[in-house]
Amino acid sequence: MYDPSTMAQAARLLRTAREVVVFTGAGVSAESGIPTFRDDQGFWREFPPEQFASWRGLVQTALWRPRRLAEFVYAVVGPIAAAQPNAAHRAIAAMEQDVAVTVVTQNIDGLHQQAGSTIVREIHGSLFEVVSQQGKFLHLLSRRELLHMAKKLNRAREAWFPLAHTLATVRPLLGVGRRGIHRPKIVLFGDAMAEPAWSLAQEECRQCDLMIQVGCSGVVWPAAGLPLEAQAQGAKLITIDPHEGGGDVWLPGPAGVILPALVESAFGRRMEG
Ligand code: OAD
Repeated sequence: MYDPSTMAQAARLLRTAREVVVFTGAGVSAESGIPTFRDDQGFWREFPPEQFASWRGLVQTALWRPRRLAEFVYAVVGPIAAAQPNAAHRAIAAMEQDVAVTVVTQNIDGLHQQAGSTIVREIHGSLFEVVSQQGKFLHLLSRRELLHMAKKLNRAREAWFPLAHTLATVRPLLGVGRRGIHRPKIVLFGDAMAEPAWSLAQEECRQCDLMIQVGCSGVVWPAAGLPLEAQAQGAKLITIDPHEGGGDVWLPGPAGVILPALVESAFGRRMEG
């Protein structure tokens, strides 16, 4: 865990910042019950990215191992549908009362907005946003609708024809309708980044004077380049992660503990658990 002088140093950087970008990855939502990708219990351990992280891999899995695809879809939708913001999301939202904050997230779970953050760039898209094959916005799903879908998906995994059941269940999110193919606006391997979020995020990372990176392994590009771009323009960098860190200050530990402590230390704003 962090020592008090490291926390004081981070709090000073936050208190004196003008424009903050909070850059988040799967670790910020771990305490909301959503698995990360690369930790020991990570998502890619159970579902190897070669088979599940691209549209091509998913189609092949659907054809050859339909039950596995049903399990994968449930593993993605289930935890996100059931999740609620944790203390880290709430602390990030609370920072806005004292400083200008933009959240740039690789997550597709909608938890920053639900916690109250007002400017959120979802650079890998959102599981709640449904778009046409050409990427045109069609509609938003609610978490409640997703939860309903997750319950049905749980049963589809056990069905005689798991692929047929899964496809029928996810039709509001992915399928073919009167207007052609529709799908969730999520970025898989090989896809372009989600726009306009990505262009805006790049601009904001170049302009900020402090970046706080939370729960990112920093191995997926081009997102991994954002902290480097911010630093190249003179921004300070705080990293929050129990396992690895860098930048000017590393606060080791879980985001749900560190972020409320940081906000309290910087602004005297006591966060409730
Ligand atoms: P990873 O799973 O690669 O990394 C999660 C990071 O969170 C690790 O550094 C963990 O140490 C840290 N972590 C775990 N628990 C934490 C906690 N309670 N508090 C703070 N940190 C914690 O996830 P990402 O870096 O988000 O992209 O992965 C990036 C991209 O890889 C994802 O957006 C996804 C994936 O493939 C696509 O699918 C395009």
